[in-house]
Amino acid sequence: MKKIVIAVDGYSSCGKSTMAKELAKQIGYIYIDSGAMYRAVTLYCLQHHLFSGNTLDLDALRKVLNDIKITFVKNPETGRSETFLNGKNVEKEIRTMTVSNKVSIVAAAGFVREEMVRQQQAMGSEKGIVMDGRDIGTVVFPHAELKIFVTASPEIRAQRRLEELIAKGENVNFEEVLHNLTTRDRIDSTRKDGPLKQAGDAVVLDNSEMTIQEQNRKLKELYENRVNEGLARSL
Ligand code: DC
Repeated sequence: MKKIVIAVDGYSSCGKSTMAKELAKQIGYIYIDSGAMYRAVTLYCLQHHLFSGNTLDLDALRKVLNDIKITFVKNPETGRSETFLNGKNVEKEIRTMTVSNKVSIVAAAGFVREEMVRQQQAMGSEKGIVMDGRDIGTVVFPHAELKIFVTASPEIRAQRRLEELIAKGENVNFEEVLHNLTTRDRIDSTRKDGPLKQAGDAVVLDNSEMTIQEQNRKLKELYENRVNEGLARSL
């Protein structure tokens, strides 16, 4: 069957990754978490002291950007893809609040986006890919056959994220998580390069009142409809 490109965009912590990952698994597509790439660059910046408070040394980052190698490797035990930074597994470290609090600053740098977009487009050149992020349907794959824009209320997103972080042993509270989400949404939506915005031809999926199973089912249905439409058109 002809493979397509599926772009899943939306706000922070709205469950994009969970549904994108599950769909990819079910239909045998590659799944790429583009946010993990911006998170890995952020971790590199923190490790190399390129931040002074919330100020990022852009000139220094520009010089070392080529030294930052991000790869995804499937963990044979869990079957899940994990993020590697220069050969080291950083899957856990990139999900901490320390990284979340700085990632939007890194993701607003035009030269960083240019390089990430280039790598993401190369990953999708053979199609058969589900990629989630903020600018996938608008900048990375503007011709994606299926574009989904996921949304949920900030309070619901914060509550879900809080539960995830607590389960991982992080010492955080609801207000802190809500503040991080809304700040990231604001920076991500208002930046000059690749801002978070709904593509004109995206299908909106508000999962505020949906269970994970319901949202997965809905996404699969959207995929099947799109593939069937495509088949009917090419007949
Ligand atoms: O999806 P996430 O929350 O892990 O993404 C982390 C940050 O990376 C998010 O605040 C914005 C940025 N990002 C981006 O700018 N473009 C993408 N395609 C994906 C993520």
